[in-house]
Amino acid sequence: MSTDVNTTRTPAVHSLTRAATIEVSVIVPTYCEAQNLPELVPLVAKALDEANLSAEIIIVDDDSPDETPEVCERLAQDYPLRLVVRHRERGLSSAVIHGMEHARGEVLVVMDADLSHPPERVPELVAAIKEDSTDFVIGSRYVSGGKTDEDWGLFRWLNSKVATLLAWPLTSAKDPMAGFFALRAATFKAAERLDPIGYKIGLELMVKSRCQNVKEIPIRFRDRLHGTSKLTLKEQLNYLRHLARLYRFRLGAVAQPLQFALVGSSGVIVDLCCYAVLLTVLPLSAARALAIWIAMSWNFGLNRRFTFAECRRDSVIKQYVLFGLACMLGGLVNWSLSVGLSNQVPFFQDWKLLAALLGVIAGTGFNYLLSRHFVFR
Ligand code: GDD
Ligand code: MN
Repeated sequence: MSTDVNTTRTPAVHSLTRAATIEVSVIVPTYCEAQNLPELVPLVAKALDEANLSAEIIIVDDDSPDETPEVCERLAQDYPLRLVVRHRERGLSSAVIHGMEHARGEVLVVMDADLSHPPERVPELVAAIKEDSTDFVIGSRYVSGGKTDEDWGLFRWLNSKVATLLAWPLTSAKDPMAGFFALRAATFKAAERLDPIGYKIGLELMVKSRCQNVKEIPIRFRDRLHGTSKLTLKEQLNYLRHLARLYRFRLGAVAQPLQFALVGSSGVIVDLCCYAVLLTVLPLSAARALAIWIAMSWNFGLNRRFTFAECRRDSVIKQYVLFGLACMLGGLVNWSLSVGLSNQVPFFQDWKLLAALLGVIAGTGFNYLLSRHFVFR
């Protein structure tokens, strides 16, 4: 997935890696964490050692301008540490995936470098993932017993809560945004089309690997030890784009027609609002026609931008004209079915609105098919 050069340093021989197989790979994405690594690595290694787990610690660094390489080189003399440097790519999520691709352990643990996540809890996450029924383990702030440090301002707290709420239909986890988690390497390998944007790599993995049984272990999330957070506003906006991708993935074949229907519904509202306003300045027939045209253009814009975003090869004008034609035909289907049912089928003579509704549905379905097959090929 990445084309970068990677400078993997050979780890020093250490008691943790003497075993033939590596049980655990701890993956730590870093950007400018040279001050934190000398504190983090010994604590992680100690916890793993005490739990008798053979392990490697993989630092995935995006070519930090600080002392990260020197610090890692020093640490690798005493600890089972590997440094993987990416030169051309940036980003927390892709760094984690990169680390996982290099990992040799049967269990993968991901954690931040800034000591926000308690190193002494790593073996607990590993033990939990070894239970047969568990697919994914989260070091969680939001289950009972978990907490975040006081310094979390209201804004960060609220932000985190809203982000979590938006992901609620995707996962049952209380803290799906967590950056401290464990899964089996086999689960990672079974993941489909990983393409996260932004920070939420745990959520991406849970959804794309279709994890059913997620276990949450309460942790205290501490304020970072040294340095500042890299979570920018841009990353937060990326989260919304990421969510849209995840919903589309989860919904599968239903996603596109559903999105089309949602756009259509918004178009009905636009239509009626415009119609109400235009009626005050134009004669009825013109107002109606103009409102329909505005709503159609609205639908076209949204569908081109979102529903069929991957099909924008053709020019806007061409697609707009085709969309207009397709809508006209859909309108005709709608009109014919509504009127036809009301006139020909006795039942619908008393249920004209129902006939109209069926007309709308048929017209919309027809619109969808035409758009799908002729406009946004
Ligand atoms: N390789 C790499 N590349 N690492 C990065 C990058 C990047 O572009 N950006 C951040 N990191 C590393 C940091 O160096 C740190 O080790 C870890 O990723 C987390 O980054 P922070 O900047 O400390 O993030 P945070 O504390 O705001 O966010 C944490 O908490 C969030 C939940 O509140 C992370 O754990 C998030 O994953 C989590 O969603
Ligand atoms: Mn942090």
